[in-house]
Amino acid sequence: MLDIQKIRKDFPILDQQVYGKPLVYLDNGATTQKPRVVLETIERLYDRENSNVHRGGHHLSVITTEHYEAARETVRQFIHAAHAHEIIFTHGTTSSINAVAFSFGEKYVRAGDEILLTEMEHHANIVPWQMLCERKGASLKVIPVNEAGELRLETLDTLITEKTRLLAVTQVSNVLGTVNPVKEIVEIAHRHGVPVLVDGAQGIQHEITDVTDMDCDFYVFSGHKIYGPTGIGVLYGKEKWLEEMPPYQGGGDMIKKVTFEKTIYEDLPLKFEAGTMNYIGAIGLATALDYLRDLGLENIMAWEQELLDYATARLKEVPELKIYGNSSHKTAILSFLIGDLHHSDVGTLLDKLGVAVRTGHHCAQPLCDHYGIAGTVRASFTFYNTKEEADWLLNSLLRIVEMLK
Ligand code: ALA
Repeated sequence: MLDIQKIRKDFPILDQQVYGKPLVYLDNGATTQKPRVVLETIERLYDRENSNVHRGGHHLSVITTEHYEAARETVRQFIHAAHAHEIIFTHGTTSSINAVAFSFGEKYVRAGDEILLTEMEHHANIVPWQMLCERKGASLKVIPVNEAGELRLETLDTLITEKTRLLAVTQVSNVLGTVNPVKEIVEIAHRHGVPVLVDGAQGIQHEITDVTDMDCDFYVFSGHKIYGPTGIGVLYGKEKWLEEMPPYQGGGDMIKKVTFEKTIYEDLPLKFEAGTMNYIGAIGLATALDYLRDLGLENIMAWEQELLDYATARLKEVPELKIYGNSSHKTAILSFLIGDLHHSDVGTLLDKLGVAVRTGHHCAQPLCDHYGIAGTVRASFTFYNTKEEADWLLNSLLRIVEMLK
């Protein structure tokens, strides 16, 4: 069991007032707050150790390089990858997906081919594939969702054709909270010889993730959504793909030898890490992963489930409130609308009452189109949230309904 009040003390930002009200931070789907240990690590690195990685033979560069490569190993262990060289550091989920769309697309996608997505993808897992399709004369196909916000997997066998080159699917919907059965999806896709990219941006912090067991070909996530710094992310790829794919960007550190006639690329993982990487971000991310490991992901999941059940029941007390995303397997995301109240009016008034939520289409416009709505109010909880905060959300919503009706 987690001691939430003790844990909250690890997150200094949570202890403040906004507009004279205690901050209730329920926008964890957009970004998470950072524990003190991550903040202290970043400060120490800039204060005492900063030096570029893989460049200098001097003391500071050696230490930073060791910490950077140790961070890669920490990520490997966290997602249970087979090899550290299958872990590529990027700027975040978006840059990881763009890298695969470019590098995989260059190598394997031709005119007439198809990329299979789902209706619940974030724009970051749609637009890079659309850009690839435009470059190559390929096309997108889409797995639909049902009213509960679950993927209609019965369509998969027909949607996959001999032209399908890759299936890209989110582990958890950022709007609905639906946890997709990614292992089952990978298994079906592999039966047809189709590789799978799993977008773990909203999944890795809420689910135990084992890429070896899942058997996905690519797995991507962002540091800032898992209590680490901004500007750092991960691309995991199976060795066989990463070996065959051309690099996404050229520059320093990704080469063995450069002449004006030809460049020989570095081995993995450096082949995909051109230029000065965000090594302080990577080390900060590893610190965040260590922090989570110490709390125990099972404990985190149990508390978040309790919070979800509690908050869902409480929100149902608001007249005319409709929740979008009612899968039996979901994370603590509550997207909702109240009668005909506009989501941004509700969000603005919640803000004035100290409650931080996200409103709008949440970078998932095709999903909103499916439901025939322009957007929702989204309260996204995490392990440092409390039942008292869910109560505050409910009471704030009841006040807002009173004011606006
Ligand atoms: N993708 C982030 C969200 O869902 C920003 O809010």
